[in-house]
Parts: sequence; structure tokens; C-alpha cells
Amino acid sequence: MKTYAELYPIVKERFLARGKPGRFRHVEGVIDTAAALAAKHGADVEKAKIAALLHDVVKNENPASLRCRIDQRYGPAEADRWPEKLWHGLAAVAYAETELGIADADILAAIENHSAGRPGMSLLEKIVFVADYIEPNRDYDNADIRQACFDNLDLGVALVLRETNHILARTGWPRAERGDAAWAEYRHILEE
Ligand SMILES: [Fe+2]
Ligand SMILES: [Fe+2]
Repeated sequence: MKTYAELYPIVKERFLARGKPGRFRHVEGVIDTAAALAAKHGADVEKAKIAALLHDVVKNENPASLRCRIDQRYGPAEADRWPEKLWHGLAAVAYAETELGIADADILAAIENHSAGRPGMSLLEKIVFVADYIEPNRDYDNADIRQACFDNLDLGVALVLRETNHILARTGWPRAERGDAAWAEYRHILEE
């Protein structure tokens, strides 16, 4: 499997070739944050960086292209189970496997679940899930949540899920089934 150092220039070039320097800044923020969280919580730093590097890699593609990638990887019924806004996570798994040869199941799961989360997330999945939200280039006021993610990762996951609920309620964006299931698993942490 390619290393992070080998993958980085390929992915950076893909973002910049499509004129998305701002989106690549977000990716770099997620990489740095995921690496720091992995070091703090005893996860594999290399895997955290690879998953963070690839999590939004096909976000620029149109829905038809994303759907095509998802159909090939997961079968034709899967895309309809997800809000279109989250298709890029599933499509990124397909891209990482077929075009970059990424085979590590935990990296692929972390990419797949980076937006909505899921119940029973691995340590790596939790790290990429919260890093996407707390990375420093986001314009949310997330200093408290960021600190929580370093002090107590499960509390951090619960807080990010709660913030995601607020955003979805405010915007009216559709919810993901897996996100609801994740919230059902984590909400008790905030009630204790
Ligand atoms: Fe994303
Ligand atoms: Fe992202």
C-alpha cells in the first residue's frame, strides 16, 4: 500500500488542479488535527493521516459521478440510503480502493463514516470524524469541543454529534440513518 508521503502529492495535485485551494486547506487542517489526536489517544498516526488526506478527495465531483462510484463499490441500492451531501464519503472509499490501492479496512471505514459517524466506531473512525469538525480552518467556534476531543475522545464525539444535529436542524439538510444511530449511542454521555 502507498505511504502517506507517496499519497500526499497525488491528492494535493488533484485538489489544486480543480482550483480548490481552500478545500485543500481544510484537508490539511484535518490531517494535522487527526495526527495530533492519534498521537494523543494511541492510534496509528500514519493511518490517521491517510484517512484524513482522502476523506474529501472526490467532493468536487458531480452527483452523477459520485453515484457511479458508489454503485460500483456498494451496489445500486446504497446511494439512495444516504443524503446526497454525504455521497462523497462513500465515493471516496471507492476512489481510494480502485485508484490508489488503499486496502486497509479501518482507513476505509474512517473515510466512509467521516460525516455522519456510526455506532461502534473504531478509534480511527472517531478521530477522523471529530477532526473533520474541529480542524482550525473551520469557521465554527469550536475551541471547547476541540479541547474535549483531546481530553476525552468519546465526549468529543458526543459533542460533535450534537453540533451536527444543530446544523442539520438549522439548515434543513436531510439526516443520515447512521448518524441517528450514532447519536442514539452517544447522547447518554452528555446526559450523565
Ligand atoms: Fe466531507
Ligand atoms: Fe471534510
